[in-house]
Amino acid sequence: MSNEEKKDISVLLEENRVFKPPEELIKQTNVKKWMDKHGIKDLDELLEKSQDLEWFWGEMAKELVEWYKPYDKVLEWDPPYVKWFAGAEYNIAHDALDKHVRTERKDKVAYIFEGEPGDVKKWTYGELYTEVNKLANALKSLGVKKGDRVGIYLPMHVELPIAMLACAKIGAIHSVVFSGFSATAFSDRLNDCKAKVAITCDFFYRRGKKVSLKKQADDAIKNSPSVEHLIVYKRTGDEVPWNEEKDLWWDEITKNQPAECETEKMDANDLLYILYTSGTTGKPKGIQHAHGGYAVGTAQTLRWVFDLKEDDIWWCAADIGWVTGHSYIVYAPLILGTTSIIYEGAPAFPEPERWWSMIEKHKVTVLYTSPTAIRAHMKLGEEYPQKCNLDSLRLLGSVGEPINPEAWIWYHKYIGKEQCPIMDTWWQTETGHFLISPLPITPLKPGSATKPLPGIAAEVYNEEAEPITNAGGNLVILKPWPGMLRGLYKDPERYENVYWSKFPNTYLAGDVSRKDEDGYFWVQGRADDVLNVAGHRIGNSEVESALVSHPKVAEAAVIGKPHELKGESITAFVVLKKGVEPSDDLKKELREHVGKEIGKIARPDEIGFVNDVPKTRSGKIMRRIIRAKAIGEKVGDISTLANPEAVEGISEAK
Ligand code: WTA
Repeated sequence: MSNEEKKDISVLLEENRVFKPPEELIKQTNVKKWMDKHGIKDLDELLEKSQDLEWFWGEMAKELVEWYKPYDKVLEWDPPYVKWFAGAEYNIAHDALDKHVRTERKDKVAYIFEGEPGDVKKWTYGELYTEVNKLANALKSLGVKKGDRVGIYLPMHVELPIAMLACAKIGAIHSVVFSGFSATAFSDRLNDCKAKVAITCDFFYRRGKKVSLKKQADDAIKNSPSVEHLIVYKRTGDEVPWNEEKDLWWDEITKNQPAECETEKMDANDLLYILYTSGTTGKPKGIQHAHGGYAVGTAQTLRWVFDLKEDDIWWCAADIGWVTGHSYIVYAPLILGTTSIIYEGAPAFPEPERWWSMIEKHKVTVLYTSPTAIRAHMKLGEEYPQKCNLDSLRLLGSVGEPINPEAWIWYHKYIGKEQCPIMDTWWQTETGHFLISPLPITPLKPGSATKPLPGIAAEVYNEEAEPITNAGGNLVILKPWPGMLRGLYKDPERYENVYWSKFPNTYLAGDVSRKDEDGYFWVQGRADDVLNVAGHRIGNSEVESALVSHPKVAEAAVIGKPHELKGESITAFVVLKKGVEPSDDLKKELREHVGKEIGKIARPDEIGFVNDVPKTRSGKIMRRIIRAKAIGEKVGDISTLANPEAVEGISEAK
């Protein structure tokens, strides 16, 4: 971006902080139509009325899902444990697949798969249904029963949703492990939940190379004695090591299976899956989700926030190995009968415009991605999206971290052509679905996830559990929600401690947020990623955002170092844009720039120039590791980072 355009952006930010969606657009939205039907005049009234949880979520369930046996009660709340749609008999696979094949959706495309080499395969709901049934029958023949755990280690192939749904169908609990994780990480997770069967593939394509996932799965399984069989989906057909006792080819074990498989009738509150996520300790937390509430919560939020209609082409560009993919590539879109994109490869491969040309080719109407991805595209330059026709897009989304206003504006301008509202959705693995997010009728402020969605009660609390405005505090959720986690796998004590012990009967999200005078939430980052400098609370990400708003900065990671007088001092590691020379003068300039953006108190005491900052494979900057390295503490395991070599670079910062 040129300096002139940077200026253009700051003018936009100052003069036009609120983006109002046009009336024309509002009229056509799912949410507005629903409000009209129920005589609700505006967003405020909707938010207020929907606080009657039993009424609101009961209505949503009526419109979205089909029970085998109706529920007795919408909600049973015995903090911190919840039951949604108690007494119902249900299976999410029924809504994702079975109900569609009775209708004309049977021939509708569920997934458009594009491989990295460019191969495209479309899967109809009917085809997906059959393949799920065959795999479900194969799993049964291997002795997998209701309640058993199945570990899945697959990349972005349609076989991943198929494997998840096959488990759901027979009542088994899936535990998907992100394909970018190491063999050790996979093995640890298999062992924690004692998985009976594991599923992987031979290879997948990433940046033009074939990655041998089978080999990694083998390394994992060697140390996971509970796993009796490894099912291998054949993507490339290249040779792989083979263990005659345990290994089974997917195509061979499904080939002769019947194309029908009866869906197991579950209790609506039975477990659907476990998904491990990092906590503050080294041991990941096994977040548990159940069938019924999760189905209603995910489908409802997708239907209203991204406003999906029958002819939309939805692209959630996350990995299915994370909750975003579980909820918004697999379950919610299938329940709604949507057509989704699944892309196997790297974003800017082989050309920087890969994503944008895919949007043009498949006529994508709604794109949902992360601020990290947006910033990476920003760094590559707007000439690439400009080469492609993006007119099919009507709505955009963001998730995973606070989106800095500069990235918001770039996304809005170059991808959305100033026509597409941006849905900045705040949620967590634990919440299962969006909790704080705009609807397409909400006036937007760049950088704010706006307000709690209908049926959600969120607040910002100070340490005394009092709601506060215009100051950083604890983001809390006051009432249960349908996709709420059902505890941690075999660890109720940790569940109660981490989320429910700070404030009585109140869910602690672990994020720091501010609520402004209009009731808009500005999530600043994790509570452990917040600095306290001389009694002032400053989000690491706020300082990073200020740094990256400087025209010479590509990326920044900010950490706090212990400081005698101020409590903490601020250190920034900065990646400069291509061609920019590091210098002491530039450090001064950046300090002043942050001072100008946030205030003198936020100016970094130290700045170091580096080539790269350590990140997880989902793009989160690993401040904990950077901090440990910078202050000379033990760094710990870095094998799951996307770029472990960047850790050394921290001590060599100039
Ligand atoms: C952060 C990802 C600001 C937050 C769905 C949360 C966000 C954590 C946003 C959960 C957002 C997610 N604005 N921060 N729109 N969305 N976060 O479990 O710190 O991988 O607690 O779930 O990401 O990350 P997780």
